[in-house]
Amino acid sequence: MRILVTGGAGYIGSFTARALHEAGHHVVVYDNLSFGHPQPVEDMELVIADLADRETLDTCIANGHFDAVVHFAAFIEAGESMKDGARFFANNTGNSIQLLNAAAHHGIQQLVFSSTAGVYGDLVRIPIRESDPTAPINVYAESKLLVERMLPWYDSIHGLRSVSLRYFNAAGGALDGSMGQDHEPATHLLTVAIKAAIGVIAHLPLNGDDYPTPDGTCIRDYIHVLDLASAHILALAYLAGGGTTDVFNVGAGVGYSNRDVIKTLKDVGGVDFAVEVGPRRPGDPAELVADATKLRRATGWVPENSDLGTIVASAWRWHSAHPDGYASHDAARAHAR
Ligand SMILES: NC(=O)c1ccc[n+]([C@@H]2O[C@H](COP(=O)([O-])OP(=O)(O)OC[C@H]3O[C@@H](n4cnc5c(N)ncnc54)[C@H](O)[C@@H]3O)[C@@H](O)[C@H]2O)c1
Repeated sequence: MRILVTGGAGYIGSFTARALHEAGHHVVVYDNLSFGHPQPVEDMELVIADLADRETLDTCIANGHFDAVVHFAAFIEAGESMKDGARFFANNTGNSIQLLNAAAHHGIQQLVFSSTAGVYGDLVRIPIRESDPTAPINVYAESKLLVERMLPWYDSIHGLRSVSLRYFNAAGGALDGSMGQDHEPATHLLTVAIKAAIGVIAHLPLNGDDYPTPDGTCIRDYIHVLDLASAHILALAYLAGGGTTDVFNVGAGVGYSNRDVIKTLKDVGGVDFAVEVGPRRPGDPAELVADATKLRRATGWVPENSDLGTIVASAWRWHSAHPDGYASHDAARAHAR
């Protein structure tokens, strides 16, 4: 298949683009590199442009003859979205409309959309099913839910069938340590904790320990980025096989508290680091754990790398060898030449 991957130079996008490329698909990555990096997709076609650039987007889609689009491009920081909501609605919702219009105009009939477990908000029973109510408590999640809600209309009006994947917490790196997350500023707990462990920052700020959970810290369902990539490949196969527009959770179905993650990192890395408890972060639900039965039944997806030990060890391997992310990657390569 010929596949357009928006945001394909970002964290999850680059792992998925690579998996698609290695599975023999022709991949075109479309990314403005605001948060992405060219290195992990250097052997693929990369269009460096913004989704807001209508002309470039239209030309790319017109010339690309794509069978499908995988749409990752977005701003991702929930906390940030509570300070500047308009920016999130413009990029995550507005630019998605631009993409959907271009895709529909050029007759693309399959799209996979990166949604988030954040759409469920705080009113959740655990584990969360797709049929549970959605009630975002931050602009980021609302900006994603708006797109989810538009997608069935693009199907009924334009025949653009889609899968929205509601990811839980993406984490981990390539098992050989060659790829990983490089997002500045780092906001994900594990990444920030590793920065504290390798001395890039003085301590790990822990956002609240007074949540109604057994150890008082937030509980999350960590899903290895390789398992997310395989979910996208299977979602595309589902659509190619005639699957109907639908929404699926992508999580491992196991919840770990922030303190569990910290302890595992200290064990895996054989390191100690300071943790400073601060106030809760606005818009953070206490607990998010997926029921991913629906995705498994529809596509056969099974997470293979999402036990906490593998997630933490692979992230540790990447960050400890590349403390400056892909900039370290380049420096190491230049040294080897
Ligand atoms: N990381 C998670 O745990 C998580 C959880 C749920 C959902 N998601 C969703 O997954 C997707 C990917 O997240 P990620 O963690 O890889 O983030 P990321 O920031 O690493 O990747 C996003 C990519 O999109 C690009 N981008 C952003 N706006 C763009 C625009 N207007 N035009 C072109 N490119 C643009 C960025 O440069 C970046 O490379 C996002 O849609 C995010 O909302 C992520």
